[in-house]
Amino acid sequence: MSNGKSHRGLRSARWFASSGLRAFGHRSRTLQMGYAYEDFMGKPVVAIINTWSDLQSCHAHFRTRAEEIKRGVWQAGGFPVELPALSLSETFVKPTTMLYRNMLAMEVEELLRSHPVDGVVLMAGCDKTTPATLMGAISMDLPTIVMPAGPMLRGNYHGEVLGSGSDVWKYWAEKQAGKISEDEWRAMESGIARSYGTCMTMGTASTMTALTETLGMTLPGASSIPAPDSGHARMATACGRRIVAMIGEDLKPSDILSRASFENALVVQMALAGSTNAIIHLIAMAGRAGVDIGLDDFDRVARKVPVLANVRPSGAFLMEDFYYAGGLPALLRELGDRLDLSAMTVTGADLGAALGGAGTYNSEVIRPLDSPVSDALGMAVLRGNLAPNGAVMKPSAAEPRLLKHSGPALVFKDYDEMDAAIDRDDLPVTPDHILVLQNAGPVGGPGMPEWGMLPIPRKLLKQGVRDMLRISDARMSGTSYGACILHVAPEAYVGGPLAAVRNGDLISVDVDKRSLELEVRESEIARRLEEWQPPKRDYPRGYNQLFAQHIQQADKGCDFDFLAGTEPIPEPDIH
Ligand code: FES
Repeated sequence: MSNGKSHRGLRSARWFASSGLRAFGHRSRTLQMGYAYEDFMGKPVVAIINTWSDLQSCHAHFRTRAEEIKRGVWQAGGFPVELPALSLSETFVKPTTMLYRNMLAMEVEELLRSHPVDGVVLMAGCDKTTPATLMGAISMDLPTIVMPAGPMLRGNYHGEVLGSGSDVWKYWAEKQAGKISEDEWRAMESGIARSYGTCMTMGTASTMTALTETLGMTLPGASSIPAPDSGHARMATACGRRIVAMIGEDLKPSDILSRASFENALVVQMALAGSTNAIIHLIAMAGRAGVDIGLDDFDRVARKVPVLANVRPSGAFLMEDFYYAGGLPALLRELGDRLDLSAMTVTGADLGAALGGAGTYNSEVIRPLDSPVSDALGMAVLRGNLAPNGAVMKPSAAEPRLLKHSGPALVFKDYDEMDAAIDRDDLPVTPDHILVLQNAGPVGGPGMPEWGMLPIPRKLLKQGVRDMLRISDARMSGTSYGACILHVAPEAYVGGPLAAVRNGDLISVDVDKRSLELEVRESEIARRLEEWQPPKRDYPRGYNQLFAQHIQQADKGCDFDFLAGTEPIPEPDIH
């Protein structure tokens, strides 16, 4: 080991190094797997949390990458052990992966606690897997490094570049408007996801891995490397080598994560025009680290930091271009003194040192501070009688005319009602209407699904309308765009004021003033809420019941109330 902890001081030595009956079992069962004593005795045991599955297309390379991480662990004198965890495919898991983010966080924390491991490499990337695995690892507080999955290659359709999610929404709207054929739509299906790796727009995956790097929890530059690039495999091996050294140095998340590192993450979130989902995840992750970050911190930073990453959906390019332009280290360097470069990283040095060789190679993709992508805000927190605890919006992804708007509400009491009505030719809707979706929040969804980018009604699409104001207690995909006001808290399902909105009520939005108001007399709102009855949905047993009882609202990061905080949990007895 490089320095610091002796072999005897290793956590795993409690399992392997004693002369007791149980240690006999731990050693004999390790030998059973074909390892020799010299493979594991006295060595730091590195857990590799692998979120691979046959239904996780973004992590299809993780079986190979796990072997590459192991190579690095062996090289550095460690003993790698792979522990599979929930793979949480954003595409396949229903009703939403957000329902299971905390389950994965619990799984990671308890996998680490219950096994003989001294440090961990987290293999994550697809949306919730990054915050979930990190939340668990932060709470466990063993030396931790994140190996980001990396974005997939650019999409391609008849010579045109396609971006994950963003172009799906865009061309779906064109299809609904009758502008593209079924055959063209089918051809896009085979061109939009050309390799393994995460969505290659600045969706939740790329946002969260970039923020994780900013927090100091990855090797420098790791989050931007495209998944199929050979550099990605080398980075995986480097993670394996580095985690062994980190165990020797006893460098834990609690030594890395600080108020300064989370403030840096807020700055980068704005410079990326990052996914609105990151707001919820960062609040939850900070909560696990004992750092109090709230919605107002996001709004404060958003006012000072322009959008520099020219990546869809707020910009023009994709993650592959971002990597070639210098990747996240280049963006961090452009941000200069907006960041606290003294924040610690997994390298054992500060963020400033990690930027040593960084440079911008395409200033169209990664803009300098004096030539941002747009003057529009990367995010704004709105409050008012419709969202007393806040709601969020991404003004940079909305048509500017909608940033100050009053219009009548068209209310859908849940997703099914919206889905059944939205494309009807007789839907009483005009471009000035504000679509309102209720009961799609953390409890109501359940799991706060990504329904917040309500579809533009077909009737309006045919008239050429491509954006309108939409308000919900749901989230939206980081690859989505439009004038969508999200995360309204408290949610309708628990009796928040959103539940009181009725068809035709006037709603006023003023992003400059950060206001979101239901223009109905307060006494009338109170009367309606008095009459309001909680919608009926019973979960007689199981995880859904646990979720409904313990999930916190969006402004609190949607962590379970019993998982939040930093109270230490005793190590397991080994008898
Ligand atoms: Fe996995 Fe988008 S579906 S990152």
